[in-house]
Amino acid sequence: MAVEEGQWVLMATGRSPTNIAVIKYWGKRDEALILPVNDSISVTLDPGHLSATTSVAVSPSFPSDRMWLNGKEISLSGGRFQNCLREIRKRARDVEDEKKGIRINKEDWEKLHVHIASYNNFPTAAGLASSAAGFACLVFTLGKVMNVMEDYGELSSIARQGSGSACRSIYGGFVKWCMGKNNDGSDSIAVQLADEAHWNDLVIIIAVVSSKQKETSSTSGMRDSVETSPLLQYRAQTIVPNRVLKMEEAIKSRNFESFARLTCADSNQFHAVCMDTSSPIFYMNDTSHRIINLVEKWNQSEGTPQVAYTFDAGPNAVLIAPNRKNAALLLQKLLYCFPPQDHDLSSYMVGDKSILSDAGL
Ligand code: DP6
Repeated sequence: MAVEEGQWVLMATGRSPTNIAVIKYWGKRDEALILPVNDSISVTLDPGHLSATTSVAVSPSFPSDRMWLNGKEISLSGGRFQNCLREIRKRARDVEDEKKGIRINKEDWEKLHVHIASYNNFPTAAGLASSAAGFACLVFTLGKVMNVMEDYGELSSIARQGSGSACRSIYGGFVKWCMGKNNDGSDSIAVQLADEAHWNDLVIIIAVVSSKQKETSSTSGMRDSVETSPLLQYRAQTIVPNRVLKMEEAIKSRNFESFARLTCADSNQFHAVCMDTSSPIFYMNDTSHRIINLVEKWNQSEGTPQVAYTFDAGPNAVLIAPNRKNAALLLQKLLYCFPPQDHDLSSYMVGDKSILSDAGL
């Protein structure tokens, strides 16, 4: 970031964690605006684990917009980056920093360029979703540097245009992405259902089953599902609306039994939709299936759910325990069934009090 002598630089840094959907978003009704076919609900992780940290710098000496991800320059030509930048620039306001002698009028933002440096605090090779944290953080930090005063709902609708799931990472705690009805996407925003303090004895464990990058991206996978899966339509119209209501109730009343049953059922149905797609998409592998078996057997033997599982567009298991005791028992069982020397499960990441507020800022 070369800066000419006498030129100022204005900077802001933000941090955003990723989120794990317990009612999945899978399928768009509008590809360009990223409008989903159903509502979804997620839990935002603790910022200490799986988060993106982004710094945005602005200076009159920057001739173009540039971005570095984990130290490597990446192209900003993609439509999704440009949409987020454009929407934030549109809402930019006057900025005055007397100490540095900086005065930027809102119309100046069209001519000023940004340099963005973003880091993930987890190995990108682990194949864990990073776009949710990345775009939420990008939008939040651009907004900060450009003095954007829009509320979180509005910011979530901008982050959505970077990556659908990113809109939910604007908030901590439990978050619902309301699909909205409007064609312009103005009501397709995220809302916080409960903050991080509401149910803070939950523990989230992520079992990294494979560190390989997934073969089918979420974007292309869900496009194929929308075009070819009859189950997707049934799920979106008939199953999810009811499930979302029940999930909201389970979260409100901290009913782990209901929360766990809904979470597992929704993950399984999402993967059934993937199988119902032409060509079928297999995100889980044998190890993922063995983890499901382990949890299902444990839950059945106790007569009530001890742990919930959910899998996104990859084989890694996200396991949610109601308390530390069950989390410890789960780790014991995982280590027994998948001894570290097998290298089936390459690592565990434990999110303690996994939920946070304010996207970690
Ligand atoms: C399986 O948000 O990555 O994780 O909107 O095309 O960027 P795009 O897709 P993305 O899809 C996430 C899908 C999911 C389920 C979820 O997070 O709800």
